[in-house]
Amino acid sequence: MIRSVVRGIGSSLPRRIMKNAEFEKLVDTTDEWIVQRTGIRQRHIASEDETTASLGEAAARRALDDAGLTPDDIDMIILATSTPNNTFPATAVEIQERLGMRHGYAFDMQAVCSGFVYAITTADLYLRGGQARRMLVIGSETFSRILDWNDRTTCVLFGDGAGAVVVEAAEGEGGLADRGILAASLRSDGTQRDKLYVDGGPSTTCTVGHLRMQGREVFKHAVGMITDVVEDVFAKAGITADDIDWFVPHQANKRIIDASAKKLGIADEKVVITVDLHGNTSAASVPLALTAGVERGQIKKGDLVLLEAMGGGFTWGAVLVRW
Ligand code: ACO
Repeated sequence: MIRSVVRGIGSSLPRRIMKNAEFEKLVDTTDEWIVQRTGIRQRHIASEDETTASLGEAAARRALDDAGLTPDDIDMIILATSTPNNTFPATAVEIQERLGMRHGYAFDMQAVCSGFVYAITTADLYLRGGQARRMLVIGSETFSRILDWNDRTTCVLFGDGAGAVVVEAAEGEGGLADRGILAASLRSDGTQRDKLYVDGGPSTTCTVGHLRMQGREVFKHAVGMITDVVEDVFAKAGITADDIDWFVPHQANKRIIDASAKKLGIADEKVVITVDLHGNTSAASVPLALTAGVERGQIKKGDLVLLEAMGGGFTWGAVLVRW
């Protein structure tokens, strides 16, 4: 059977690093509060010349280099983002143009922080369905542009960045030993959309709007949603938490990550953590953490890697991949 195998990975972060202490001058907060409640110590913030498209392009180029491929070898791009350069056209087509791709097709996918998990699951279906042979799946965000910088309950949590993978259709045996995407589970629940949203949009306010979040409410649901889809993936693949080599969760809050790993029975030393360095980068968080996991020498070829994310909508999902 056809498997979607990860051939290359890369990331890109804005030049400017913003430490927690800088927020003490902007809002009524402290470095200590932010570290204690979230585990975040710093985040990268895009400058004027850095956009979702430019960060996404840089991450895509690194993933292509890592795979030893060029844009000519790619026939499709999915960009997961909630902070596109423009309402339309899709930022994915701008990345396609920046990469010099004059063939194939590209589109954006919007599932907020779950965007990359949704996008790689979609990519798997395109590859297994024969619609593409080799794809770029990118998560790129500039959440700093939609933050209310006067709201201490949200502005300290988010950062900007991008991560990308090259996925390729390859023959597999159909078993758990195959490399590639082995199982996935996606969910959403629109009744919860007022918990985390942006208070503007083209069809309602004709503005971009700012991020609003009932943090405590999101926190309350997070662990349950994460374990729900992870357990579904475990059941589909016929494995348990002990079989996992690496857990790469969405990096929103260290407390949510710790509580999810504990409830799932995944050992702390198997969890890739980047929330301290990047904050919550929404759809970029999982591919940024994956890249860090590979660069740190944690994730190696043949490892069983569990990805997970949850975010606005609510949306949530998990993917099991043999690296
Ligand atoms: N500095 C200091 N105090 C603060 C700050 C801050 N930056 N922010 C809030 N507080 C205060 C609150 O006002 C509150 O004060 P009060 O008790 O006088 O009312 C107190 O700290 C405690 O607030 P809580 O909201 O209860 O704090 P909590 O421990 O829940 O932490 C947090 C808040 C970090 C937002 C947490 O709820 C959280 O992580 N929620 C989930 C966020 C998340 O995972 N999002 C993922 C999806 S993101 C996406 O899809 C785009």
